[in-house]
Amino acid sequence: MKKLDRKRVFDLLKKDNQALIGQEINVKGWVRTRRGNKNVAFIALNDGSIIHNLQVVVDVKAFGNDELLRQITTGSCISVNGKLVESQGKGQSVEVQATEITLYGSADPEKYPLQKKGHSLEFLREIAHLRPRTNTFGAIFRIRHALSFAIHKFFNDEGFYYLHTPIITGSDAEGAGEMFRVTTLDLKNPPLDDKGEVDYSQDFFGKETNLTVSGQLEGELGALALSNIYTFGPTFRAENSNTSRHLSEFWMIEPEMAFYDIHDNMDLAESFLKYLVAYLLAHCEDDLAFLQKMYDDKLFERLRMVQEHTFERLTYTEAIAVLEKSGKKFEYPVKWGVDLQSEHERYLVEEAYGKPVILTDYPRDIKAFYMKLNDDGKTVRAMDVLFPGIGEIVGGSQREEDYDKLHGRIHEMGIETSDVWWYLETRKFGTAPHSGFGLGFERLMLFVTGMGNIRDVIPFPRAPQNAEF
Ligand code: 4AD
Ligand code: MG
Repeated sequence: MKKLDRKRVFDLLKKDNQALIGQEINVKGWVRTRRGNKNVAFIALNDGSIIHNLQVVVDVKAFGNDELLRQITTGSCISVNGKLVESQGKGQSVEVQATEITLYGSADPEKYPLQKKGHSLEFLREIAHLRPRTNTFGAIFRIRHALSFAIHKFFNDEGFYYLHTPIITGSDAEGAGEMFRVTTLDLKNPPLDDKGEVDYSQDFFGKETNLTVSGQLEGELGALALSNIYTFGPTFRAENSNTSRHLSEFWMIEPEMAFYDIHDNMDLAESFLKYLVAYLLAHCEDDLAFLQKMYDDKLFERLRMVQEHTFERLTYTEAIAVLEKSGKKFEYPVKWGVDLQSEHERYLVEEAYGKPVILTDYPRDIKAFYMKLNDDGKTVRAMDVLFPGIGEIVGGSQREEDYDKLHGRIHEMGIETSDVWWYLETRKFGTAPHSGFGLGFERLMLFVTGMGNIRDVIPFPRAPQNAEF
């Protein structure tokens, strides 16, 4: 086969492809369909660079290799040399007139599972090794990439530093006890101490360790030196919630800023989310349009809603009053002090205000130990951002910077000071007002793709009873 520069389908189909028309090019990819008759074959080729397929046209007689053509079936992988020409047919502006084809890998039509369109998302989850080859998951993973890139770009442009916080830790940042243990001890025969408890001093790290539930505590250490940092990494929660909005392994973005109060924190969260939505609208239009057509006819409308509206800001106490006055029958009844369920959050966003909502000043008893206590002694400077269709997408707060108050909270909640002595020390040495938040990356992916289940916005989801692939 003649050696030619490989072009991506993206480059061949883009609007300013004029210079390529009439040229001999090479293109490689996976066959979506092959149709035609004894004179001409049409191959729809996709290489994942764009949602659209490239049409490859084969003059069957001139090509003269029927056996090869027969093996070019859905799912097979080929390399094509040919001339890029303007297309006579409907549905595409250009096509490739094939002169040479190499078959890299066939795909037995009897066995390849992605024969027809319209597989259920549940079925595709069972073949997560192949689902990236569908239009839906190609679009989702390209959007996931664009969103990741935009996150780094936003923070870099704003003067934030990307801080790598550890995956293996000895602490429970959220104090909720939902951790996956990390150990190399022999589970059948662990060493015991004199009380008969497992002796973790003999474990790999000489102490109990787990996968991190959040990079925040270490993020704060960074912010109290570099001023503005962010993390973007995987986090792990062993909560047994089998819902469409929870994963056991999910990615979180956690900015942490010295000298920010809760209002600065809310301003940052709002402008960050608006920036990300605007970035996607500018860079992922074809993929979003596909998802809108297939899954969610209100997708663009909802994205614009985030862009165009100032988020409504109110306190938890005010929100409880709104919920109580709503006259709605909720599955979980509301009264001051309860944790809000997604039905409550969605009522506020979708019915009461019709735009994103930021709730602040939650009761201290339902929030984590590190949040700054308000003067009322009952509430903390927490802030949650609530989105349509999702509920909580961001959770954050101003942090308690006072040593005695923080120490008191840690003691009250039964957290061992020996686990977090280093965190406490930052309040002893040059403490500063500071704030931060965590954005659940897959929650945002749900929102921007219109998908209904969080397992469909991450390549290889981890959930209770589910760690295949
Ligand atoms: O509200 P969370 O638990 O807050 C924290 O972890 C803080 N340390 C963040 C901070 O202030 N730096 O989690 C933050 C966000 C949630 O708002 C939600 O979007 C997402 O993480 N999240 C999950 N996403 C998927 N699956 C789960 N099991 C999630 N738990 C939380
Ligand atoms: Mg939260």
